[in-house]
Amino acid sequence: MSEKNIIGKILYTQEDITKRAKEIAKQIDKDYEGEELILLGTLKGSIPWFTDILKYITNDARIDFITASSYGSSMTSSGIVKITYEPTINMYNKHVLVIEDIIDTGNTLKYLKAKLAERGPKSVKVCSMLNKESRRVADLHAEYVGFEVDDLFVIGYGLDYDQRFRGLPYISYLEAEDVESL
Ligand code: PRP
Repeated sequence: MSEKNIIGKILYTQEDITKRAKEIAKQIDKDYEGEELILLGTLKGSIPWFTDILKYITNDARIDFITASSYGSSMTSSGIVKITYEPTINMYNKHVLVIEDIIDTGNTLKYLKAKLAERGPKSVKVCSMLNKESRRVADLHAEYVGFEVDDLFVIGYGLDYDQRFRGLPYISYLEAEDVESL
């Protein structure tokens, strides 16, 4: 079986990500012990990280998904967010943990949290694989963060460049020279 090519500069390997996901899953189990929990994945980027967290928690969590698209350029979100796929699960009086791939300005999640609160959940918290704290605009805090990252163009493990590279089994970043050769 052939291996995937290395695209960009690797930040975190599959091994690093697995180790961190297991640590976070353990913490989630502790924090939600004996509680009903819904894992809500944000499509599309969160899929690999979502399945890791789902696999490693022992809580018999229910799952659903939500898709939000934000208007503006493809590089930055504008703060104007639209939900294009609505979860169907009943969240009333349940704990909801939103599973994200990355938080940048925080605009998307701030909007999503406010919309989800209208469904009467017991709580809405956030677990993000990556966090770009330096880019934050909205007042948004994630309770669980896999890794803090600098303001880099990150790809892999769900993260895309023009919808490509989501399937890479590692997180890397692209620089201008890398983009030219794609
Ligand atoms: C990414 C990510 C967050 C959002 C973060 O989604 O999954 O939802 O951007 O940006 P913000 O903190 O500045 O709002 P994207 O729109 O790229 O969709 P995708 O998951 O399909 O790649």
